[in-house]
Amino acid sequence: MTNYYSIDKGAFFMNEVIRTIKNRRSVRLYREEQIAEEELQIIMEAGLWAPSGHNTQPWHITAIQNKELLAHMSNIATKEMAKSPIEWVARMGRSGRNLFYNAPTVLIVSGKQEDEIMMNSAVDCAAAIQNMLLAAESLNIGSCWIGLICFFFADEEEVKKLLLPEGVKPLYAVCLGYKGRANGKGPERKSENINYIR
Ligand SMILES: Cc1cc2nc3c(=O)[nH]c(=O)nc-3n(C[C@H](O)[C@H](O)[C@H](O)COP(=O)(O)O)c2cc1C
Repeated sequence: MTNYYSIDKGAFFMNEVIRTIKNRRSVRLYREEQIAEEELQIIMEAGLWAPSGHNTQPWHITAIQNKELLAHMSNIATKEMAKSPIEWVARMGRSGRNLFYNAPTVLIVSGKQEDEIMMNSAVDCAAAIQNMLLAAESLNIGSCWIGLICFFFADEEEVKKLLLPEGVKPLYAVCLGYKGRANGKGPERKSENINYIR
């Protein structure tokens, strides 16, 4: 079959993977109910199946489902954010909004230290995160990649409480939970970010 495609006009050809990629949104409203254990396991396993440079698999995933700990982490991060010289970050910090949008599950993705040339565990971890976001969407579970968690990671004493294995550095968080509303269309994608040499 010929798969004609136009970014502006939309696809003439669709399959489950493409549909999932395009339907995934950053979800910022979650139901309180915890996701099923099987769903959590499938999502994390999808992370482990990401590609990695030289097959180093340099990731570590910490699944947190403890409400008090998540609220504590969010408080520490937002207090730090409020001090930021970047106005939108400071505003978000001052708003006191929960950094994880009250998602019932939050994954912390950490990268193993890089000891070889050309190895960049953050890149591999990003691939693992995207796999998990897509796996979540395929199960109709909401997810959101949280970079602002770096304001929590800045507090080394607090990070110790996450009981991370030796030699890993926390990089990002991922919220997971049943969606509080259906996905919207999401921000427009810029087709000018692609060029061709043929
Ligand atoms: C590295 C990275 C960090 C992000 N950090 C946050 C964050 O801290 N909080 C948040 O609400 N969304 C965060 N996002 C989600 C982006 O805002 C979102 O992906 C973007 O607006 C596009 O929307 P979409 O995911 O619905 O397509 C992050 C995304 C990436 C890739």
